Amino acid sequence: MKTINIGLLGCGTVGTGVAKILIENKGLISSRVGASLILKRVADIDIKRDRGVCFDNGVMTTDAYSVVDDPEIDIVIEMIGGDGIAKDLILKAIKNGKQAVTANKALLAVHGNTLFRAAAKKGVDLAFEASVGGCMPIIKSLRESLVGNTISSMTGILNGTCNYILSKITFDGSAFESALSEAQSKGFAEADPTLDVEGIDTAHKLAILTSLAYGMEINFHDIYIEGISNITPIDIEFAERFGYRIKLLAISKNKGDRVEARVHPAMISFDNPLSNVSGTMNAITISGDAVGDMMLYGHGAGMMPTASAVVGDTVDLVRNILSGSKGRIPLLSYQFDNIKKIPVMPVEDIFTNYYFRFSALDHPGVLSKIAGILGNNSISIKSVHQKGRKTKGSVPIVILTHLAREADVKKALSEISSLDIISDSPVLIRVEDENGED
Ligand code: HSE
Repeated sequence: MKTINIGLLGCGTVGTGVAKILIENKGLISSRVGASLILKRVADIDIKRDRGVCFDNGVMTTDAYSVVDDPEIDIVIEMIGGDGIAKDLILKAIKNGKQAVTANKALLAVHGNTLFRAAAKKGVDLAFEASVGGCMPIIKSLRESLVGNTISSMTGILNGTCNYILSKITFDGSAFESALSEAQSKGFAEADPTLDVEGIDTAHKLAILTSLAYGMEINFHDIYIEGISNITPIDIEFAERFGYRIKLLAISKNKGDRVEARVHPAMISFDNPLSNVSGTMNAITISGDAVGDMMLYGHGAGMMPTASAVVGDTVDLVRNILSGSKGRIPLLSYQFDNIKKIPVMPVEDIFTNYYFRFSALDHPGVLSKIAGILGNNSISIKSVHQKGRKTKGSVPIVILTHLAREADVKKALSEISSLDIISDSPVLIRVEDENGED
């Protein structure tokens, strides 16, 4: 039986999961693949820690470059993360003609165009299923299963940490901070949880998917990003009252010569299957002209689900080596010559429905002033709600709108903020109500 040698760079949580699967399920994998996968070298800065995995003597090293330079290694798996040394190591592995696997969405979102171009030029594969949605086979779906479709849109819950926090506040009344530390203790959060909470991790993933779906260069920097740190229990309560749940969504729409790509909290109806994706789970709906609507659901993070996707990628590359078909599937889904620079629409140009919450004095005429400004800015009101009655201080006034243009909304809210009857900054949450009335 042919032997394929694997080098693992980074043996943290997911890296350890990968090692575990490759060692403990070695027989199972070789009976499916027809080759023996040997974890030959493992590089990490800490080679003493007990990870609950038994490596043979000499497998572990602190020198990651000795792994990518080892002529006997066929496949390099990068599990270091970040966009520092990881980028250098992947480029070195590619230069040395090795197949590579990574789960590093932050790296691919920012430097993916360079890395994929280098791999394509060298004729090697760079697999990255685990970079988006953990074990959900979203990359495989876009690159392979849906190859015959024009993709029109994708909407995803792609960050387990944010989804966990929002679910804990919604269902258990937890405070933001305690929900975040629980997510961290479960091993989902990024090393810097700001990446999760401020929507950046979700945007990294959205940048990759948007490129694959529409045949464009990866463009992370033009994605509109808003995180969940300003979401308060009162807005969650209002949302529930209206039949909505608040989720951090990654939204991508094919508009022909432009794309919409945005990450922000949004209210979605209880009828939308994404509203039932709770805790650390991830899900994504994809619409294609042939397939219609489809949805993937699964663990978007965590040691073993992510490791499962990494091993799936590794086996794909082993099969390509065995059949002599490296580079069989274009890395970014389209042939390189057909990848375009498609601009991402500024958020000001989007149309959606809105939820506004104003803290306003409870006086006669207050509502007409607010409604007047909205009307003057072409924003049509769907419903108005006031909670409580106060002769002193402010009350929350909530307004739901029909479809409106974001630029008009921003202008109206800035005018409303300057009224002396308004005490705090208005709250804006987009309502993504595909099936609702306009
Ligand atoms: N921090 C990410 C999450 C990990 O919470 O989903 C997986 O990318």
